[in-house]
Amino acid sequence: MDIKISPSMLASDFANLEAELKKCESAGADMIHLDVMDGCFVPNITIGAPVIKAMKKVCALPFDVHLMIENPLEYIDDFADAGADIITFHVESKSDTQKTIEKIKVCGCKASLSVKPDTDIKTVFPYAGSLSMVLVMTVEPGFGGQSFMRGMLPKIERLRAEFPEMDIEVDGGINTETIKECAAAGANVFVAGSAVFNSKSPAQTIALLKKNAGKI
Ligand code: DX5
Ligand code: ZN
Repeated sequence: MDIKISPSMLASDFANLEAELKKCESAGADMIHLDVMDGCFVPNITIGAPVIKAMKKVCALPFDVHLMIENPLEYIDDFADAGADIITFHVESKSDTQKTIEKIKVCGCKASLSVKPDTDIKTVFPYAGSLSMVLVMTVEPGFGGQSFMRGMLPKIERLRAEFPEMDIEVDGGINTETIKECAAAGANVFVAGSAVFNSKSPAQTIALLKKNAGKI
């Protein structure tokens, strides 16, 4: 499986988004992870489609948009128009899951479904055939900089056993150490916010993340 590193812009300097995006590009990031929060699905509010649209104009990397919002179906058009390449939404959201997946694909984006820590991974199984990725949250969604929840590893193993070809993304508390356990469990797409942006050398950190995930 291809290993991909997706820095979360939530940990970046919001006053210098263009420079931060360029930093990710030159540091070897494979995608850009954008955390959208509505203050309802999670107790925090971040950015929306207009900001993502502006960011897309100055960055050539694929945009990996993570919707932590109650009604994703209502906003798929906006995020597709903003330049999202992959749209992840939560199985725990209020929108109809299958309709939301279909809408994402009709809009020309790749569809991905996420589970919060307390949600059984089996809830995504019925939709796997129409998904290109599943995102296993390894912290409670809402904030960057939290500690990795090791108890999520069995979910990743179960998912990988069931779907050998699917992209499996992990998000929350991923650093140069925790990435080893996630990769061993079967994840191949890694979100890293604080690990990349709090590092003195994002390029060295991304290189080490890739190495520790199994790619030289
Ligand atoms: C949390 C977000 C994450 C977060 C990751 O709800 O979905 O993407 O920014 O940040 P770190 O890597 O710092 O845990
Ligand atoms: Zn995220």
